[in-house]
Amino acid sequence: MLLCVCMLLLVASDLGFCQDEASLDDQWEQWKIKHGKQYYSRHQTGTSRSYRNSLQQRSREEEYRRAIWEKNKLKIEAHNKEAEQGKHSYRLGMNFFGDMTSEEMSEKMTCLGMPLHYVKSSGSCYETAEAPQCMKDFKDMDTKEQVNMTCLPNFIDYRKRGMVTRVKNQGNCYSCWAFSAAGALEGQLAKKTGQLLDLSVQNLIDCVTESDGCDGGFITDAFEYVQDNGLNSEEVYPYIGKQWCRHNTSAIAAQCKGFNKVPEEDEYALAKTLYEVGPVSVAIHGSLDEFMLYKNGVFYNPECDKDYVDHAMLLVGYGETAKGLKYWIVKNSYGESWGEEGYLRIVRDRGNHCGIASEASYPLM
Ligand SMILES: *[C@@H]1O[C@H](CO)[C@@H](O)[C@H](O)[C@H]1NC(C)=O
Ligand SMILES: *[C@@H]1O[C@H](CO)[C@@H](O)[C@H](O)[C@H]1NC(C)=O
Repeated sequence: MLLCVCMLLLVASDLGFCQDEASLDDQWEQWKIKHGKQYYSRHQTGTSRSYRNSLQQRSREEEYRRAIWEKNKLKIEAHNKEAEQGKHSYRLGMNFFGDMTSEEMSEKMTCLGMPLHYVKSSGSCYETAEAPQCMKDFKDMDTKEQVNMTCLPNFIDYRKRGMVTRVKNQGNCYSCWAFSAAGALEGQLAKKTGQLLDLSVQNLIDCVTESDGCDGGFITDAFEYVQDNGLNSEEVYPYIGKQWCRHNTSAIAAQCKGFNKVPEEDEYALAKTLYEVGPVSVAIHGSLDEFMLYKNGVFYNPECDKDYVDHAMLLVGYGETAKGLKYWIVKNSYGESWGEEGYLRIVRDRGNHCGIASEASYPLM
């Protein structure tokens, strides 16, 4: 029957159609396997739970996800076509997030604690929704005055200096804050001891009581925890997703004396800190679907909101393209198949794009 339709279409010189449909099915199957996707019904039926019924619901859920996946696929293709025409400096690609709607991407993936309740590093000013005046006063202060101007190199990449561990995957646990903090500690540990060691993100997720583990947390709470308790290595305390504290006090791999925050919204200060200190924990507005589906190039999206940072990562370098487009190099925790082998390049010196310099901090070791 299918063959028949194909033949008919062939006659109608619409050669592409059947092939496209068939290859789309293949791509869908391959994508599901690659990302370990299995679909179960989203809604319990309540009364009837027969096997047949659950199979039907499962296929309905899969149908729903497939439709979103196709929509995202078209979005990616359209964006990349525009990128080829020079309308964007980055490309999108199908990845783990391909079956999520924009709403799901923006709601589900928030892994940094409430952005508006962040305590400022200096002064007694709290940035809360209730104190906009206070916030304004603080922002009026010229942070550049406090920064010592230094000649900075054109390129920095701590991956090439053995200060960055391999890219991890946070999976369904929204623990970017812990990956970001562990990354900054790993950098300082490597700088101090010359040894690159994976530190335990799970230790932070389970034991930093001020944070919500897999539901989000703060980078600076993680540094404070390490200051008080020290941190185990990944080997001693591996990432398995369970959530009760099994911190081993006789196997401390890293300790810190506290943390510093980088002057806010100041990309020069961030570059200087990166140069002088090493990898720095940063946060950006990361819940846009263009970010989730980022493949390569220098990310720039006008919808990115520098005042709404919700995703933590690790800044490991900066540079500029042959065309002179400046970028930051950022390590993410979405696995190596996301972005540029797990990394993001995002535009630099473009008005604190996506809030890259809004909440940067690093541990003192
Ligand atoms: C700037 O750097 C110089 C030399 O390292 C130092 O003496 C001075 O205190 C610094 N100024 C500030 C404001 O940090
Ligand atoms: C804690 O670490 C020490 C030293 O590595 C080891 O001997 C001990 O068995 C560990 N304890 C637990 C409960 O894993």
